[in-house]
This record gives sequence, structure tokens and C-alpha cells, in this order.
Amino acid sequence: MRVCLVLGSTRSSGPPRPAPLGARVGAFMERAVARRGCEIDVVDPVVEALPLLEKPHFAYGRAPAALDALAARLAAADAYVMVTPEYNHAPGPALLNLVDHFGSSIFSFKSSLIVSYSAGQWGGTRAAHALRPILSELGCLPVSAMVHVPRAQEQFDADGRPASEGWDAYADRGVSQLLWWAAAAKNHRGPEDPFESSPAFRAAPSQRNAPS
Ligand SMILES: Cc1cc2nc3c(=O)[nH]c(=O)nc-3n(C[C@H](O)[C@H](O)[C@H](O)COP(=O)(O)O)c2cc1C
Repeated sequence: MRVCLVLGSTRSSGPPRPAPLGARVGAFMERAVARRGCEIDVVDPVVEALPLLEKPHFAYGRAPAALDALAARLAAADAYVMVTPEYNHAPGPALLNLVDHFGSSIFSFKSSLIVSYSAGQWGGTRAAHALRPILSELGCLPVSAMVHVPRAQEQFDADGRPASEGWDAYADRGVSQLLWWAAAAKNHRGPEDPFESSPAFRAAPSQRNAPS
């Protein structure tokens, strides 16, 4: 099973300190997925350094090589762990910008796990809930369990090691749901290609309109 873990922050410093927190939460979740024997690919918006969306991947005739390479990495995944900070009660713009660069067919008929964090007490729950309909729109089933990390600066050290017990079991519940759906979707893709009965939109979004 291949899991792609997408980080959602491009911040390089605080306040609040220590920052950025995303790397800690990402490292923690990376271990939670690796424990299950999955192959894991971490996509970091800092490394990808995509511009604010000018042209999505699918809108190019011949896309830039770096965008093609990222599309291939995302497409190769069976499931996604989306790690988002909470900025003004919303998901991190770096995560949304990255996702918006690609057509939904890259993500669709797969599963996703939402992981949110914040420096404050709510653990990014508002961002997590705002991310749910976005992943649903991509056809990338967000599983019911979510992982929320309040005061991430206190919960995990710089390597993503938890400071207290219980975090591994908490993450495992979400990862279990993610992998269950991912396996179900993967196994069914062979017998029935989902794009045959529900093809990707090629021409215009109006292809999904109700009849007039
Ligand atoms: C622009 C901005 C908006 C923020 N909004 C929220 C918020 O709505 N809720 C919250 O709990 N924390 C908020 N924070 C604090 C973040 O939880 C904290 O800065 C965290 O470290 C962000 O993750 P990062 O370091 O990986 O970027 C905000 C931080 C920034 C920079």
C-alpha cells in the first residue's frame, strides 16, 4: 500500500515558537503509517515550492517536468494523509494550493485521513472540518476518524516523538480506517474501473450539471 503524506505549511519561523509545527506532526504521522508496513511518500510544499495557482497541471498541453513528477507521485498513492495547520479557522493555504494544482481524478476513488494541529487548544478542528468537503469534492473519501493535535509544540518533540502516552493508539485508529478503505478501493479497481462509469471531466464542469 502506498500512502502519500501531504504537509500544509510553508512557514519558516514563529511566533508562536517553536515553529514550524507541521514537520513535527508530519514526522509523527509518518511513523504511524510506516508501522503498518506501507510505503510512504512525504510531499512538502516547502520543497515543491509551487507558485500560487496560475495554471493547474491538467490545463497544460505539456506541463513543466516538476509538475509532471509531482502529479505522478500523487497519482501513485493509494491513500493520502493530509496534515493541515489551522490558519484563521481554515486549512493551510499551502496544502490547498498544492491540491488545487491537480485534477480530482488523481485523488478520486481513494481514501484520505485528515490530520490537523495548532499551537492552541482546539487542535485545528475547524480547519479539519473545512478540509472534509474539499476532499469529498475530490472524490477522496475522508475517513470518519480524524487526528487533531492541540498544543502541538508540547505534544511532540522536533522529531515528532510524543511527550505522553496514547498518541500512537489515537493515530492508529485513523490510519486503520484509512488503510481499510484504501485496500477496499484498490482491490475493487481491478474488477471494475471506476472511471468507466464515472469518467473524469475533460471538457467542462457543466458535464455534471442536472438536465435543464
Ligand atoms: C496566519 C495564522 C493564522 C492562525 N490561525 C489560527 C487559528 O485559527 N487557530 C489556531 O488554533 N491557531 C492559529 N494559528 C496558530 C497556529 O496554530 C500555529 O502558528 C502553528 O504553529 C501553525 O502551524 P505551522 O507552524 O506548521 O505553520 C495561526 C497562525 C498563523 C500564522
